[in-house]
Amino acid sequence: MPLVTLNEILPKARQNKRAVAAFNVANLETLLGVFKAAEQESSPVIIQVYQRLFKDERAELIAAMAARLAGKTDIPIVLHLDHGTSIEQLKRAIEIGYTSVMIDGSQLSLNENIDLTAGAVDIAHRTGVSIEAEIGHVPFGDGKVELSTPEEAVKFAGQTGVDALAISIGTAHGFYKEEPYLDIERAMEIGKSVSIPLVLHGGTGVPEEQLKKAIECGVAKINIATELQNLFIRGIASELEKNGEKFIPVDLYFRPVEEKITEYARAKIRVCGIK
Ligand code: 13P
Repeated sequence: MPLVTLNEILPKARQNKRAVAAFNVANLETLLGVFKAAEQESSPVIIQVYQRLFKDERAELIAAMAARLAGKTDIPIVLHLDHGTSIEQLKRAIEIGYTSVMIDGSQLSLNENIDLTAGAVDIAHRTGVSIEAEIGHVPFGDGKVELSTPEEAVKFAGQTGVDALAISIGTAHGFYKEEPYLDIERAMEIGKSVSIPLVLHGGTGVPEEQLKKAIECGVAKINIATELQNLFIRGIASELEKNGEKFIPVDLYFRPVEEKITEYARAKIRVCGIK
């Protein structure tokens, strides 16, 4: 089937206290690895592409491959721009076939974030594309966490009309130095105050039990990037070590790595589906 938007899968997931895994892919192998996981689990999946890949033709080429793969299956697949930086970038994503976008105004003031997001929602909805935005701030690297509040969520959701809302409840992007501790009470309060699907960024390294609790609170999209991409890189390193100087064609070299990605993504999909 053609690629779908978040609206075809997330509201239903939230209603059923489930989530859909969203994996950041960056090349053919990570894309195929994730696609096969979704097929093998018969589960919808969100394929997302980080904003940096829109700076050259990579995002466009991945879009073409993702659309082709989606066309081969009955499983709903969303193609999503992750952490969109500007209205121009959103427009480009929509033009090249993305069915969903994120506008990230999480480092602006709440009112500025609302203004930016409301404009982005207008563009996305006019073209039939779904849109996610973030309140509070889920940091990258050593950045500072800014936790989201229920009041912000109500105001932001009401004034922007966004389809999915990323909240900050103690996660961060990248590997954690110590085990993260999610503020589940906060997630619960936010979940009670808005009915739109919530999004959890920084899914790498969050223990399964905490992910499940967050899903109970209304988190319906869980983003995973670092762990999956690290698996790809370490996978190649271990193939190199195994094969030494022996020449192996690139496609065959990548195959066992792709299988590891499928296995990893399947396990995460199962956690999201609370199987
Ligand atoms: P991680 O890299 O921590 O898995 O976070 C992914 C993410 O939130 C992408 O937006």
